[in-house]
Amino acid sequence: MTNTNIFPEGFLWGAATSAPQSEGAQYADGRTASTWDVWYEKEPERFYNQVGPQHTSYVYERYPEDAQLMADMGLNSFRTSISWNRLLPDGQTLNQEAVAFYRDYFIQIKKNGVQPIINLFHFDMPWWLMEKGGWENRTSIEAFAFYARTAFEQFGDLVDTWTTFNEPIVHVQCGYLGNDHWPQVYDFKRAITVGYHTMLAHAAAVREFRSVMEDSGKEIGIILNLSPVYAKSDQSDDQKAKRYAEEWHIKSFLEPAVNGHYSPFLIETLKENNLLPKIEPEDAALLLQGKVDFLGVNYYQPLRVQAVDKEKVNIPAKSPADFSKAYDWPDKKMNPYRGWEIYPEGIYDIAMMIKNDYHNIPWYISENGMGVADEERFMDAEGIIQDDYRIEFIRDHLEQILKAIEAESSCYGYHLWTFVDCWSWLNAYKNRYGFYRLDLETGNRIPKKSSFWLHGIIEESKLDL
Ligand code: NOJ
Repeated sequence: MTNTNIFPEGFLWGAATSAPQSEGAQYADGRTASTWDVWYEKEPERFYNQVGPQHTSYVYERYPEDAQLMADMGLNSFRTSISWNRLLPDGQTLNQEAVAFYRDYFIQIKKNGVQPIINLFHFDMPWWLMEKGGWENRTSIEAFAFYARTAFEQFGDLVDTWTTFNEPIVHVQCGYLGNDHWPQVYDFKRAITVGYHTMLAHAAAVREFRSVMEDSGKEIGIILNLSPVYAKSDQSDDQKAKRYAEEWHIKSFLEPAVNGHYSPFLIETLKENNLLPKIEPEDAALLLQGKVDFLGVNYYQPLRVQAVDKEKVNIPAKSPADFSKAYDWPDKKMNPYRGWEIYPEGIYDIAMMIKNDYHNIPWYISENGMGVADEERFMDAEGIIQDDYRIEFIRDHLEQILKAIEAESSCYGYHLWTFVDCWSWLNAYKNRYGFYRLDLETGNRIPKKSSFWLHGIIEESKLDL
């Protein structure tokens, strides 16, 4: 329990989304395909109800209305991303219509008193680059740096806060150790290469940022899903599993982003398993240039792990599952409408890890939220979703943020995923997350009860405990 219920001045209140999940206008005004567009054309049955990326939340047309709604709710910040394949349809040529769209989008948001936080890559690899191997191909590093530089030059006057990648471990795991992202392969060595090149691309983008922005005071960060890891027991095997899970799921991106290099333990483990990617002599210097000014932390649920059964372990390792396996904690509280664990205390533990192990680098919750299937069932006679479950969820997580701030964490904001219900990859609109309900037929935005509730919290800048 915390003693303070007041949020610090300047606390960021907002919501997050991404270009591929919200813009729509799939091939409008020169935009070319990303992996999601092509995948849907190849295998529409993989997508929930066969709803593909062409049916995202119509932001391309409706952004002025959204900007107004954000202001009405009292939000002071909002994160979305730029679509690489909209801005540079062939990787080289600047699309002036995309520039006009994004400039006006950001202007409208700012005019309404909302600070845009702009991310560069949210799982949306341009198809032209995927055909050359995507992140497996080293040329993607400088291709990304060129895109990043272009974005900084075109929008740097409007946007003060940037991030390079959203949850980079997800495109590695889901695309190269699973089949929830393209290219749906299972190969640990390829996965490691993809992760490594992603981090080099991140560093190259930060390098470009420092050169374009110089001493402007503008900032760049990265968004990581830092699920805290809890072991089944204090026994050494379970603790070892925890250590490995932390290395794979947290430190693999966090260490280079904050410190400019990988942890020696991770490098050793990769060496032992013959998994080291090809490292060029200039890479270490580039990674050092990738140190961020702040972190965005996405938090949904913790990771609970236990030791693996020794006889089942592959040598050399074939996946992170050879080092630790999931543990089904009997006491966990579940989101009954989505099937994920709800554990607000995880935010406090992340805050203390950042404070103690990562020199309390400034950070904010860049995503937190509660997906709900068939949310229409909670609609009242006026058409308002009575999402008391979401209110309780947000409230409990905010309480942990207050507790962390009281313990001198440098957490400075909270963004809900998401503002208007958006398209969720293979799940399409199965689980809804927004402050606003999206009417799929009309594209209309209808406030949910949680939007009124959060407005009240923001106005008072305090939480009733
Ligand atoms: C994290 C991702 O950034 C976002 O794209 C996704 O839709 C949400 N989590 C909800 O699962």
